[in-house]
Amino acid sequence: MSGNRARWRITYHRRIAYDIVEAPQLFDPQNRALLSVGRLERGRRFVVLDRNVARHCADDLQSYFAHHGIDAKIVRFAGGEQRKRVDAYLEILRELDDFPIQRRDEPIIAIGGGVLTDVVGFVASSYRRGVPHIKVPTTLMGYVDASVGIKTAINFNGHKNRLGSFEPPLRVLLDKEFLRTLPRRHILNGVCEILKLAIIKDAGLFRLLEEHGAESIDRRFQNPAGGRILERAISGMLEELEPDLFEDNLSRKVDFGHTFSHGLESRHEARLLHGEAVLLDIAVSTLIARRRYLLSERETERIFRLIDALGLSLNIELLDPELLWRALLERIEHRNGAQRSPMPDSLGHCVFLNDIARREIESAITALHERLCIHHEPALER
Ligand SMILES: NC(=O)c1ccc[n+]([C@@H]2O[C@H](COP(=O)([O-])OP(=O)(O)OC[C@H]3O[C@@H](n4cnc5c(N)ncnc54)[C@H](O)[C@@H]3O)[C@@H](O)[C@H]2O)c1
Repeated sequence: MSGNRARWRITYHRRIAYDIVEAPQLFDPQNRALLSVGRLERGRRFVVLDRNVARHCADDLQSYFAHHGIDAKIVRFAGGEQRKRVDAYLEILRELDDFPIQRRDEPIIAIGGGVLTDVVGFVASSYRRGVPHIKVPTTLMGYVDASVGIKTAINFNGHKNRLGSFEPPLRVLLDKEFLRTLPRRHILNGVCEILKLAIIKDAGLFRLLEEHGAESIDRRFQNPAGGRILERAISGMLEELEPDLFEDNLSRKVDFGHTFSHGLESRHEARLLHGEAVLLDIAVSTLIARRRYLLSERETERIFRLIDALGLSLNIELLDPELLWRALLERIEHRNGAQRSPMPDSLGHCVFLNDIARREIESAITALHERLCIHHEPALER
């Protein structure tokens, strides 16, 4: 009997390249961006459109496809974290399966916030083992974060993003006009992710936010400074994502604000938006960093002053040390055996910590309560 066992090795490199492009007035028939990839001749498109966005532009979208002779099926999808579930995912799959598209040449189009693009991205990655898709973000969260990378997800079994995939889009089309109709709370939700990036990796972006953040929020980022903030935030995000698209390196700067927030978001799904949970995490992490002398008092003060100036509110009564501690333990599994928690060590820079102790979380929460109570104490009557 021969001792040689047969053995095969498969090595395959898939090149990933996709463009993220500004495409103002996306539904203007003269604008070909939506149809710039995929088949046009007797073409079909399966489109998933956020219901709140549809209220403002469903007719324009219909006319757009009619003008170009495209047979489009437009499915309306209600956004919100509660919709990021298996049943919503299956619902879209059934609609898609009823409207056959060419497997390679008729990309699915996802137009909506981060929930919609996450769910539709997962549909695209699993239907027929993967069909192409285009993302059009309509929330600030989607514009600067959720749409520009390759992660798709749905929540499962009480956990955020537990099912999902890495699925590069064919293209991401950016039209900030969509932000005009976005409620202020959702604008602020996206601002939390921009703030995260500014603290952890871009002191210049932090200064831009100090100088023009409040005005840009009021103007729904339609002002020139707002445009600069968006561009800088996207560039910064992509600088981090591009070299590590599949998260081979689990020490990721962009995970700042995402260590404790998963636990908060899962527990308080009905009360907290993603960015609001990230903001609570940023506040706690900032104070942990301060107590370790990674941040100076002046830098810590600047962070809290900016949070205040941008009109971001911290729901500190939701901060339960036990919940945050368990969230950190869960992240250790997610980050393959170590905390790998990014922490600012001066504004615009970071280190990774692996030894955050439970008592540090408790002290940070206490310090946060004290800080906010002191700052919001009513003025003494004269
Ligand atoms: N894939 C990623 O890398 C990534 C990154 C960051 C966040 N996310 C995910 O993104 C999700 C949050 O995204 P979101 O904040 O965009 O939430 P969302 O998609 O639920 O949108 C928020 C609300 O705004 C409405 N809306 C959307 N566009 C609108 C518009 N232009 N005008 C008026 N209303 C509009 C929606 O109907 C919804 O009610 C979370 O589930 C988070 O996990 C994913």
